[in-house]
Amino acid sequence: MRKKIVAGNWKMNGSYELINSLVPALAEEAKQSQAEILVCPPSLFLGDVRRQAGERLLVGAQNCHEAESGAFTGEVSTGMLAELQLSHVLVGHSERRAIYGETDALIAQKTKAAIAAGLVAVLCVGETLEERENGRTLDVVLGQVKAVVEQLELADWSKLVVAYEPVWAIGTGKTASSDQAQEVHRAIREALAGFSQEHADAMRILYGGSVKAANAEELFACPDIDGGLVGGASLNVDEFISICRAAN
Ligand code: PGA
Repeated sequence: MRKKIVAGNWKMNGSYELINSLVPALAEEAKQSQAEILVCPPSLFLGDVRRQAGERLLVGAQNCHEAESGAFTGEVSTGMLAELQLSHVLVGHSERRAIYGETDALIAQKTKAAIAAGLVAVLCVGETLEERENGRTLDVVLGQVKAVVEQLELADWSKLVVAYEPVWAIGTGKTASSDQAQEVHRAIREALAGFSQEHADAMRILYGGSVKAANAEELFACPDIDGGLVGGASLNVDEFISICRAAN
């Protein structure tokens, strides 16, 4: 049985007020949850959130640099994230791909750097509306997954989670139907099975894109959906806890 993960991506939102109201509640929830609960606040708050998170609530970054250290003003290395005792880092979020021009090759380098530092990389993939309408969904998504896993050793896969996030569903209130999501999740798992069936069976594949309490249970009930990556709804404590409970 794959353990489910519910991850909150705060993006560039949050404040000490939010941290103080949300993190202690999530730390409590994580103690009794059967799913892994992960929060990814902005990097400036990572240390504070880690300190309040207790033993069970997982804390991750939203991005990292691919180099170990050096003259990269404004960037954060995976070693620094590991030093803060974080467990995860998102790589290749569609906003990083679209706004900051991150390529598959760069995302593969970031993934390798994260794993080398002992972090779990949450690899985000997904098609745009135009790509979906042109029938290219699986081409695009499987291409994004393969570009990264081809650069990894199979032994690294235990430090990888995939998040399928159709770009047209992110922050739009439009969710992929559970059938649409399951179809892509299954295709991702089948593509991974081309490398190793055993490792594909163990891979957690999360769905992201307007996940909320009202749709989480149906999505998480799909056989190849192993939890969610939640943006907007992760900023509301009641809503996010309901989503976590839907994964139990
Ligand atoms: P959303 O964002 O839940 O606000 O659609 C998801 C994400 O970008 O990870």
